[in-house]
Amino acid sequence: MKLSGGSARVNALMAQMSLGEKLGQISMLADGLVETGPPGPHNPFNMIVDGRVGSLLNVWGAHLVREAQRRAVEESRLGVPLFFGLDVVHGHKSIHPVPIAEAGSFDRQLWEATARDSAIEAMADGVHMTFAPMIDVARDARWGRIVETAGEDPLVNAEFGRARVRGYQARDEKGIMRLAACAKHFCAYGAVVSGRDYAEADVSWRGLEEIYLPPFRACVDEGVAAIMPAFIDVAGMAMTGHKRLLRDMLRARWRFDGLIVSDYNAIAELINHGVAADAPEAAALALNAGVDIDMMSDAYFNGLPIALERGLVSMDEIDMAVRRVLNFKEQIGLFDDPYRNMAPSASKEEIPKTLAPERRALSRQAAQRSIVLLKNEGALLPLKAPRSLAVLGPLADAPNDQLGPWASAGDGQDAVTILAGLRETYAQADVRFAKGAPFEGRDEDELEAARKALAGADAIILCIGESRMMSGEALSRTKPEIPAGQLELARMALESGAPVVLAINSGRPLVLPDWLVEGAHAILAAWHAGTEAGPALAAILSGACNPSARLAITWPRTTGQMPLFYGLRPSGRPHDPQNTWTTGYYDCPFDPCWSFGQGLSYTRFARANLRVDRDALDLDDLVSVSVDVTNIGTCEGVETIFLFSRDPVAQVTRPMLELRDFTKVALRQGETRTVVFVVKVRDLCYLDEDRKPRLDDGAIQFHVGASARREDLERIDVVIAQG
Ligand code: BGC
Repeated sequence: MKLSGGSARVNALMAQMSLGEKLGQISMLADGLVETGPPGPHNPFNMIVDGRVGSLLNVWGAHLVREAQRRAVEESRLGVPLFFGLDVVHGHKSIHPVPIAEAGSFDRQLWEATARDSAIEAMADGVHMTFAPMIDVARDARWGRIVETAGEDPLVNAEFGRARVRGYQARDEKGIMRLAACAKHFCAYGAVVSGRDYAEADVSWRGLEEIYLPPFRACVDEGVAAIMPAFIDVAGMAMTGHKRLLRDMLRARWRFDGLIVSDYNAIAELINHGVAADAPEAAALALNAGVDIDMMSDAYFNGLPIALERGLVSMDEIDMAVRRVLNFKEQIGLFDDPYRNMAPSASKEEIPKTLAPERRALSRQAAQRSIVLLKNEGALLPLKAPRSLAVLGPLADAPNDQLGPWASAGDGQDAVTILAGLRETYAQADVRFAKGAPFEGRDEDELEAARKALAGADAIILCIGESRMMSGEALSRTKPEIPAGQLELARMALESGAPVVLAINSGRPLVLPDWLVEGAHAILAAWHAGTEAGPALAAILSGACNPSARLAITWPRTTGQMPLFYGLRPSGRPHDPQNTWTTGYYDCPFDPCWSFGQGLSYTRFARANLRVDRDALDLDDLVSVSVDVTNIGTCEGVETIFLFSRDPVAQVTRPMLELRDFTKVALRQGETRTVVFVVKVRDLCYLDEDRKPRLDDGAIQFHVGASARREDLERIDVVIAQG
């Protein structure tokens, strides 16, 4: 979006505005339908009439937004309409899998489609901006917000971000973007030390350039409407006042001309960071760095008049931010139609309670494509016709928890649970259920009920993991594990002798004890898969759907390995289990429990004929890397192929693998298809010591295959020979 100009209407408005009205426009307050931060002292509804607020967050529903808008348009002096923002992160009413799960579909079209559907639902509820996508590369499962990300890889986050922006911002019949996207949190929030939320991040310029910034660059290139700076400080610079990154990089170098919206109360928190003495200083720091909107802190409204007096900011800077907000409102059509999507007579009762079937169907499809099969010993799955099933665990019948955190207006009443899904799928079987354990702690009666339920069962479906309240913002965990009471239930299930299908429901990779990984016959990362999690999991267990998802994040063996990810740089003493003097751990294997990209199918695939169309390349060349993929199993299925590269000799150390592309290929039994990746040689450049892109003459390796594990990859080399 281009927001720095100004139409005649906006210019005329600006000319009439008092300082207070201008500061109102750049202040966003929460209404509090949901709480996403410490409640403020405000009652924004009463402040609208005074022109004291320009946008509201955490409010939706035609009846409510209409009333707020009426006050702004009909009762405030200048009648400037409000816009409404909300965290529509993985669905609005129809809830899709949490992002860390949906990322594992590696399906750009799906990422876009679920965002488009969320936008349709949110728009119908009067919402104009979503605070999404979150594209913070994250590698430490202790951090609760890992659930909101697309995982550990910069390219996956970049592609996920692009698809989301396209989906949210798709135009309606009038040619207006349905839902403005706000990419967050700029930047390196995922690198908070020890996975502790709101902590500092110490990231080198190389880390920023190569890992944390590319997803934001991708969203800017895709035309994202807004960016939210992170709460945190990066290498000592508080992001909400980071002039170099916000103004010099984002605005000047990348030419981002959309809105910069602070995080919740983040401007006032500059005082806690120790970079501003009071609200005027904090407000000046943020405004001068380019932050247009103050979310929730009132530092702009109360602090900027004083900052002006002190000469810390100029009226021009304030006007620039106000102009952007007004231009945004104009471009999303609010001046022409302030009640857009707020039907005049809409009341709570008139808003349809049931979800549209086509959106439910998409949620189901998204869940099916996000649930990862990690183990399937003796081809236990699919479970064709069990006579009896014991369904155990606190997540088997947990409609609210399966929605996961940040479930927007999602309602557990709309959710179909795993138990319900299994009962429908296995209508002929005796499906018994016992919770067996609470999320945390233990319950002897529950355990006893589970003991009874599993007696004589043909198979046990064990649904354990995290409640929705165990991951998300402010929910970092030092032990991202399955709580002891649930493990006791798992042990009882394994000891029964019946085959156990372990469905881990969580918002993050969980550390599992070895006995559970070894003892369970089948294991699935079922995540928090949303409204249709139940039917989706049941379809996978029964074989109606062949699983195709992969892990977008490494699952460590133990918490002490975190942060663990595939893109490590080579050590001078590479890991060798036979040699003490090499990198690794004394008390734990080097490799993870499951690597990035892992995930099984009910069929098997083979790759052959890895080839390149040319093997000597110059900087401006394109090179095609191709491989033939064959379905050599017994049913149709979808395979994911990753293309990584490695620069084995450069002026600086380069990661052992860098993801360059990924694709999916659907194959019938016996079918072969050729997957072709086209790579721009220039994209293989790295930044040298002077931060200049560089590629040296010599070999570049391409590694192609099914995951980041060595054994899943084949390699082919090309030679760079620059003329
Ligand atoms: C979160 C943001 C979110 C905002 C508004 C903050 O606490 O960090 O991601 O968009 O609240 O709900």
